Amino acid sequence: MSETIVSESELAQHNSIDDLWVAVEDKVYNLTQFQFEHPGGSDILVEVAGKDATEEFEDAGHSEDAREMMESYLVGKLEDSAKPKSGKKKPPSLSDGSSPLSSYLVYGGIAIGVVIIACVLLNRRTCKH
Ligand code: HEM
Repeated sequence: MSETIVSESELAQHNSIDDLWVAVEDKVYNLTQFQFEHPGGSDILVEVAGKDATEEFEDAGHSEDAREMMESYLVGKLEDSAKPKSGKKKPPSLSDGSSPLSSYLVYGGIAIGVVIIACVLLNRRTCKH
C-alpha cells in the first residue's frame, strides 16, 4: 500500500477554515470537518492551519481516545521527515583570497621601514658636520 506524501508547501496551502490541514508528529490530518466537533474548539485549529502543530497538540495533553480519533482524518505523511538536516549554506570564510586589512599592514610596514631608514641616514649626515 503506497502512502501519500505531503510536502510542507502543500500543507501550507490548506490553511483556512474551509480547507484545514494540520501536521502532528510526521503526519498530516484534514480537520476541515472535524474542527467543528473538536472539544478544544475550531479557533485553535484555524490558528495552526497549514502548519506543524505537534507542540500545541502535545501541550493540550490529548487522551488516547483523541489519538485514535485522529487516524480517521489522516491524509498522509509529512515529507519534512525525509529532509536532510545539513544546510546548503557554506560558512563564511576569513581566508578566501587576500583581505584588504593584511595588504594595508604589509604596505604600512614597508612605509614605516622606509621612514626609519631615511631618519637614520639623515642623522648620520647631520653628525658628520
Ligand atoms: C489532529 C486531530 C485532533 C483531534 C482528533 C483532537 C481531539 C481532541 C479531543 C478528543 C479532545 C478532548 C480531550 C481529549 O480527549 O484529549 C481535545 C481537546 C483539546 N484539543 Fe484537540 N484534537 C486534535 C488536534 C488538536 C490540535 C492541533 C490542537 C492545538 C493546536 C488541539 C488542542 C486541543 C485543546 C487545547 C484541547 C483541550 C480543550 C479543553 O479541555 O477545554 N487539538 N482534542
